[in-house]
Amino acid sequence: MKHLFFFSFILLLNFTPTTLAQSSPSPTPSGPLNITAVLEKAGQFGTLIRLLKSTQVSDRINAQLNNSNQGLTLFAPTDNAFSTLKPGTLNSLSDQQKVSLVQFHVIPTFLSVSNFQTVSDPVLTQAGNGNGRYPLNVTTTGNSVNITTGIVNTTVGGTIYTDGQLAVYQVDSVLLPIDIFGPPAPAAAPAPAKAKKKSGSSTVSESPDSGKSDASGGVGLVNRRGVVVAGFLVAVIGFL
Ligand SMILES: *[C@@H]1O[C@H](CO)[C@@H](O)[C@H](O)[C@H]1NC(C)=O
Ligand SMILES: *[C@@H]1O[C@H](CO)[C@@H](O)[C@H](O)[C@H]1NC(C)=O
Ligand SMILES: *[C@@H]1O[C@H](CO)[C@@H](O)[C@H](O)[C@H]1NC(C)=O
Repeated sequence: MKHLFFFSFILLLNFTPTTLAQSSPSPTPSGPLNITAVLEKAGQFGTLIRLLKSTQVSDRINAQLNNSNQGLTLFAPTDNAFSTLKPGTLNSLSDQQKVSLVQFHVIPTFLSVSNFQTVSDPVLTQAGNGNGRYPLNVTTTGNSVNITTGIVNTTVGGTIYTDGQLAVYQVDSVLLPIDIFGPPAPAAAPAPAKAKKKSGSSTVSESPDSGKSDASGGVGLVNRRGVVVAGFLVAVIGFL
């Protein structure tokens, strides 16, 4: 009797772990595509994952992946790539610039390695919002794919993930867009430049608000600075 009890106890012990082991692998891959889960699985993308989440770009990517069949390509800088940025680079960005920086790494179509051979420059990134800004260039030699932003040159390091709809490639440099990190636009020069500015209507048409404040140029500048400072504070607080 004692032996029988002991025997069934052993059976029970043996039985429980196997059922658990059998049931666990199936649910994981069958869910909707999740960009941060893909990166988490790959490891070494902690900073990128944090940026994707804090800017909510990951939510947009997941929505695009699961609600359209256009596909998407992500260039994923490693933690090491972020650590080689000049100190304070991320902290100096406004929230909007952080969004643009992350979206600069996203191409709103699926690009396989062989697609890179035929893609025509400049390649438009998600940060451009369809207005032609935030471009990057892709060149290939054999199987090696180079990316240049005008600030950074790098080579695509390897495929992290590809399924015909989503492609994630490792890059060993953060792709710094010229629209954020390039030389400052030749604006804000004193009196003579202001007179020149007025003749060109392109700056005024940006938004109705900026058109109004342009009448008194000084106020416009102060407002601009105020926005930049506020953005910086928000960025610092966000980072802390
Ligand atoms: C790509 O980059 C590598 C290393 O920087 C360089 O040797 C090669 O010439 C580049 N290829 C193209 C097509 O720019
Ligand atoms: C990207 O390619 C376009 C078209 O070839 C060229 O006009 C532009 O200067 C290039 N930009 C960079 C940053 O290499
Ligand atoms: C990137 O490559 C281009 C030509 O391939 C070169 O003119 C430029 O100086 C390079 N930029 C950097 C930052 O290495």
